[in-house]
Amino acid sequence: MILPKIALACTVLALTGTVLAEDGKTLYQDHCRKCHGSEGNARTARGYLYFARDFTRPAWQARRSDEEIFRIISEGPDGWSSMPAYSKRLSDAERRALVKVVRDFGKSAMP
Ligand code: HEC
Repeated sequence: MILPKIALACTVLALTGTVLAEDGKTLYQDHCRKCHGSEGNARTARGYLYFARDFTRPAWQARRSDEEIFRIISEGPDGWSSMPAYSKRLSDAERRALVKVVRDFGKSAMP
């Protein structure tokens, strides 16, 4: 019987997806909020100090691809920045989950 196996695989995938999305939010709170703000709009003391971007702006969302966001989280922004590289601190899957969190900030700001 192959069908029950497929059904099981789908359930597992769906569950992992949910867990990852939740993980992303927790990771964001733990690692990113202090600079980028809990709403992603960088209205924090460090955000002002370091000129962090407002992720809720549609113009910003449109300018960056998922791959760019992933690369910036992994290696840090281009040029000098106070933002650390996360490639050694967080796994690939965790950084992927954070790309989604950053994208979701844009969606919540859309009219
Ligand atoms: C010490 C403060 C700090 C922390 C912590 C930090 N960032 Fe940043 N981040 C910055 C600064 C400063 C920049 C460069 C200015 C900018 O582009 O917003 C930046 C840039 C970015 C950019 C690119 C913006 C652009 O278009 O150039 C992304 C995406 C980003 N951060 C996501 C994250 C995520 C996700 C985390 C958590 C894993 C994180 N940052 C943690 C300060 C921080």
